[in-house]
Amino acid sequence: SITHVILTGGVGSRLWPLSRKSQPKQYLDIFDGKSLFEMTVERNRNIADKVMVVGNIDNCHLSRKVLEKSNTEYIDIIESTPRNTAAAIAFAAFASNPEDILIVTPSDHIIEEMEHYEEAIKEAVEKASKGYIVTFGIVPTKPETGYGYIERRGDTVLSFREKPNQVTATDFIAKGNFLWNSGMFCFKAGVLLEELKAFHPEVYEKAKITWDTNINGNLALDLSLEIPSISIDYAVMERSKKIKVVSSKFGWSDLGSFESVYDYLVTIGHAVDKNGNMVIGTNNYTAFIGLKDTIFVYTDTANLILKKELSQDVKSVYNKLEREN
Ligand code: GDD
Ligand code: MG
Repeated sequence: SITHVILTGGVGSRLWPLSRKSQPKQYLDIFDGKSLFEMTVERNRNIADKVMVVGNIDNCHLSRKVLEKSNTEYIDIIESTPRNTAAAIAFAAFASNPEDILIVTPSDHIIEEMEHYEEAIKEAVEKASKGYIVTFGIVPTKPETGYGYIERRGDTVLSFREKPNQVTATDFIAKGNFLWNSGMFCFKAGVLLEELKAFHPEVYEKAKITWDTNINGNLALDLSLEIPSISIDYAVMERSKKIKVVSSKFGWSDLGSFESVYDYLVTIGHAVDKNGNMVIGTNNYTAFIGLKDTIFVYTDTANLILKKELSQDVKSVYNKLEREN
């Protein structure tokens, strides 16, 4: 059977103040009147037989609200603390039969052109059935440093490089045979666990101990804290020889930073003034004088004025506020 595993552990700190710990970006109704989480569920409804949500105690009620509204049955895995994607994906695999095919997706991406999406999923499921771990690659448009890169020949992965620096990323783009890693994966549960065990036995063992003592999907805090916090990209994707890539044609945006939100909003016709300034979160008339490529974000309780190119730095404001509270 095919299970759609939704990873929803993130808080989207680079989208503060739109995104908050109590209301992470995947649950906001800012795109199209629906939340990104809801769109993720709907997109995969006809593709998978089962839904599994790996989230945490702070947001499981938000996931539940969406899934109950659409009468979706699901398996709930509730982390007491985030231990990164290697552990989150391991829990989903432990909760499955080894032969089950898992389609793992983040809950906070924009995906367009469903025919292409379904095509890519079909191809991935075929490869996963043969025992491969499949990643979905996206043709890059700029030397983004916030993504993983897949060096490939056809569907063969020559190397996987998580978050390169600017110089390396620019070099990858020039070479032409690199794709962005979309952060979506497809594999048999048993295959992923074998590879995790081979390449990061400590995550495997500690995640297994944690999973084995779960109570209705709730994971214990003391055991969770023992699991090394590492992403699946570093733990498995960079190391396994069983990786295949599906070069995907669907429209994709990881709305990770205000820069990517800005780019996406421009494509759907959101207003930008002649100097590239944008307002998000209010219809109040807003004037920019002497500013260029500035993003003004308005919310009831906090505002942000941001030079677009420094979008990655929003995280530091979020972290500072976290520390002070
Ligand atoms: N349940 C759970 N627990 N989910 C988590 C955890 C966790 O501890 N940590 C992260 N997630 C979820 C996030 O909410 C997100 O949906 C997804 O897993 C990926 O984590 P990110 O933290 O957003 O990863 P990233 O953006 O730095 O990098 C990944 O995605 C890029 C594309 O967006 C990598 O796979 C990159 O290679 C990729 O290019
Ligand atoms: Mg991300």
